[in-house]
Amino acid sequence: MSTEVKSIAVIGAGTMGSGIALVSAMTGIKTYQVDVSDAQLERSKAGHTKIMGRNVEKGRMTAEQAEAAAGLLTYTTSMTDAKDVDWAVEAVFENAELKKGIFKEMQATFRDDIVLASNTSSISITDVATAVGDADAPRVIGMHFFNPVPVMKLVEVIKGLATSEETTARTIALAERMGKVPVPANDRAGFVSNRVLMPMINEAFYAWMEGVAEPADIDSIMKLGCNFPMGPLRLADFIGLDVCHDIMMVLHRELGDPKFFPCPKLRQLVTAGRLGDKSGQGVFEYGKK
Ligand SMILES: NC(=O)c1ccc[n+]([C@@H]2O[C@H](COP(=O)([O-])OP(=O)(O)OC[C@H]3O[C@@H](n4cnc5c(N)ncnc54)[C@H](O)[C@@H]3O)[C@@H](O)[C@H]2O)c1
Repeated sequence: MSTEVKSIAVIGAGTMGSGIALVSAMTGIKTYQVDVSDAQLERSKAGHTKIMGRNVEKGRMTAEQAEAAAGLLTYTTSMTDAKDVDWAVEAVFENAELKKGIFKEMQATFRDDIVLASNTSSISITDVATAVGDADAPRVIGMHFFNPVPVMKLVEVIKGLATSEETTARTIALAERMGKVPVPANDRAGFVSNRVLMPMINEAFYAWMEGVAEPADIDSIMKLGCNFPMGPLRLADFIGLDVCHDIMMVLHRELGDPKFFPCPKLRQLVTAGRLGDKSGQGVFEYGKK
C-alpha cells in the first residue's frame, strides 16, 4: 500500500466535502474537489476564497499561504481527472446506495493501493465496504470530520469489519497531519457522535412542536444551562435539516428504536425545502439564498 499522501480526491463538494478539501489543500496536499454539480463546485470554490481571505485578514495565514493552498485545488465533475491520487474521501449525500455506487466508481478509477474513506455520519462502514468486495474491504474506513471542518478538531475513525490495521494507522496519521484529533469508534449506526447528538436535536424539535418553548428560548436554555456553544436547533440548521433527517432515518432503521424516528416538525421543514443555513431558511431565517 502506498503510504505517502501527496494528493487527495474529495468526492462531494457540499458543506463537508468543501471543508475537507480546503483543510487538505491548507495542509499542502494537492486536492481534487469532485462533484456532479457545477453549481456546487462554484459554491465550494467561492467558499474557499472567502474563508482564506478572512484567514489572511485576521493574520491566521499569509497571502502567500492562501495562494499556495488555492493553487493546490482543482474543481472537477470528472473523477477520472483525479485518477492518480494517493487517497480518496467520499462526502456525498447520506444515502447508503449512493455511497456504495461512489465506492464502486472510486475502486474502478483510482489505484488499488489507496485508502477509500467515507465521511458518513451514520451509515455502516461494513455495509459501504460490501460495494468493493472482500479483496478491497480492508482499505475502506470511516473518516468522520465535523462541521465546520477547518475549525473542528475531531475526526471520528470508524473501522469496518474488514478494515485493516494498516488502513486505520494511515487514517490516524493523515488526520493528525491535517491538525485533527482522531478518536476511534466502532461501526454501529451513528457511531458515538450522532448516536448521542441526534436524539437531543430531535427532542428539541419535539419541545418546540409541543410548545414547551419557542426555538430561540430552547436554544438559549441549552446554551446557558448546559454551556453549549450553540443551541440544538441552531446546530440542526447549521448541519442541514435534510442531513439530520437522513441520519435519524439510518439510526431508526439500524437500531430499531422508535426514539430515533425524526420528529414530524423536522420532517415538515425538510419537505418544505427549509434545510437550514444552506437554503437560507430552516428553524431560523438566514435571508434567502
Ligand atoms: N453537514 C454536517 O454537519 C455533516 C457533518 C459530518 C458528516 N456529514 C456527512 O457528510 C456527508 C455529506 O454531507 P453534507 O452536509 O456535505 O451534504 P451536502 O448536501 O451539503 O453535500 C452533498 C454533495 O454531494 C454531491 N453529490 C451527490 N451525488 C454525487 C455524486 N454521484 N458524485 C459526486 N458528488 C455527488 C452533491 O452535489 C452535494 O454537493 C454525508 O454523509 C453527511 O452525513 C455531514
